[in-house]
Amino acid sequence: AEPEIGDGADADTIDELRDAAKGCRRCPLWSNATQTVFGEGPDDARIVFVGEQPGDQEDIAGRPFVGPAGKMFDGVLDEAGVDRSITYVTNSVKHFKFEPRGKRRIHAKPNAGEVSACRWWIDHELKLIKPDLAVALGATAALSLLGKTIAVTKMRGQVVTRDDGLRVFLTIHPSFILRIPDPHDKEAERGRFVADMQAVKALM
Ligand code: URA
Repeated sequence: AEPEIGDGADADTIDELRDAAKGCRRCPLWSNATQTVFGEGPDDARIVFVGEQPGDQEDIAGRPFVGPAGKMFDGVLDEAGVDRSITYVTNSVKHFKFEPRGKRRIHAKPNAGEVSACRWWIDHELKLIKPDLAVALGATAALSLLGKTIAVTKMRGQVVTRDDGLRVFLTIHPSFILRIPDPHDKEAERGRFVADMQAVKALM
């Protein structure tokens, strides 16, 4: 028999919320993914980083930002002097969405309905953690946190305060850097991301 899994509404801790999310059926993405990849970090983190969705490696490991984008992210945080272990790192969408291509699984962008369905979890994570600042890594996170489409390359570095008082720092997604083919452009973009993370550190 399937274990009795609640919707997490009465969870008092992130661990309870994570357990509830294991059986999430709020959108169809659970059916092809290996597992729910929930947020990770201390319940009392002052800062919450929000990505898009788990990638191939995250889906297998069950942990956010451990693949190529995660390695880029870790290197940049390190350079900016931000200790990831005291932050909470999560995603807008908690299941990996992909298109099979041969033996590979190619990342597919979550749609607005999937982002909206998964907002249930991020809302509860934010209610339990009550951070001083959320950092939207890319447009999907900005959509999840602010409920509207944002041009993050134009708005990067800006802080938007939500109606509930939560401050949201806008920046790009680390995989945007990985996709830049020209090494000089790539390094320049990485430098801008380091500067954004230094600005985040100053707001912590
Ligand atoms: N990209 C994301 O947005 N999140 C992850 O966890 C990994 C890659």
